[in-house]
Amino acid sequence: MAAADVPTLEDLEAGLGGLDGKRVLVRADLNVPLRDGRITDDLRIRAALPTLRWLTERGAQVTACSHLGRPKGAPDPQFSIDPVRARLAELAPEVEVMENLRFDPGETADDPAFVARLVEGRDAYVNDAFGASHRAHASIVGPPRSLPSAAGRLLAREVEVLLGCREHPRRPFVGILGGAKVSDKLGVIDALLGVCDRLVIGGGMCFTFLAAQGHRVGSSLLEEDQVANCRALLESGAAIHLPTDVTALGPGGRIGDPEAGGEVRQVGADVPEGWMGLDIGPGTAAEFSDVIAEAGQVLWNGPMGVFEDPRFEAGTRTVAEAVAECRGFTVVGGGDSAAAVAQFDLADRIDHISTGGGASLELIENGDLPGLAALRGDATD
Ligand code: 3PG
Repeated sequence: MAAADVPTLEDLEAGLGGLDGKRVLVRADLNVPLRDGRITDDLRIRAALPTLRWLTERGAQVTACSHLGRPKGAPDPQFSIDPVRARLAELAPEVEVMENLRFDPGETADDPAFVARLVEGRDAYVNDAFGASHRAHASIVGPPRSLPSAAGRLLAREVEVLLGCREHPRRPFVGILGGAKVSDKLGVIDALLGVCDRLVIGGGMCFTFLAAQGHRVGSSLLEEDQVANCRALLESGAAIHLPTDVTALGPGGRIGDPEAGGEVRQVGADVPEGWMGLDIGPGTAAEFSDVIAEAGQVLWNGPMGVFEDPRFEAGTRTVAEAVAECRGFTVVGGGDSAAAVAQFDLADRIDHISTGGGASLELIENGDLPGLAALRGDATD
């Protein structure tokens, strides 16, 4: 069975002979960013609405559940679901919201006793938590073992778009990867090299590749133990584009603190001793933009630099603008690259912004997720 062959909401409705009065548990990914207890971006809450409203319009009694942050298996006021509950009460007042699932250690352990508590008194289960469907946690893989289950609208759409990118790419397919660590992304680099025509690499991870090319990286982020892997990828003949210039911070400077001083300078692909590369340089940003302009399809995950610091946002901004202007089909993986696109006010010019960071990478890498396997009825225990 193909990964995307999961029951839909319509299948669920037909199977139950209607949803009126049915008690439905919806696993959503309401893991929104919070600052001082306030939600700074409610995208994930709004993204859950089509499914929640579809169910309530059919008379279902809906209870939503989610994790929020990474509490350690016990109640922690810092991660209370209250701000999410309050926002959802404004947008979908009929929906009840359970407390943060990760306040119970049974959630991450996929403990059968915790699953039993989740499904007790329910008639059906809907997984709409795309961003958490790479986790084999109780609320993701447990309920489908005993309840009629389906994928919500958001999960179904994310899977359609991301698997479509992987399985039926529009050419040329340009992958753009950034972010800190090569080690986190080796699997996805491998998967992308199998389907992409060109792979553009920036962000902290580019320095391990530059080191593999024999460049000096100064005090930039470097994963020594990954240099050999990067060299092997470069020697494989794959069309990998790396920075040829870098924006670097001099000795004494601090990331995110322009007041602390420290010179900022453009350097070539060799970063001087004591300097730290924190963004791709303007020449590289222009080269990457040229590659992106030609794309039939773009998949972007991970910023090109430390864009939260205005001294190092230019590379990410230029790439975001190039993606927005690209005439091909454009997809931005969740997490930091989605935040960057929002910061630069370009979100409405991207074809699809995924709500899942890790989940979108894992789906591209493996072509499947534990949450999808559970909905298909594949054994997960
Ligand atoms: C995310 O923010 O990527 C998802 O909500 C998953 O969160 P997690 O990485 O804490 O499991």
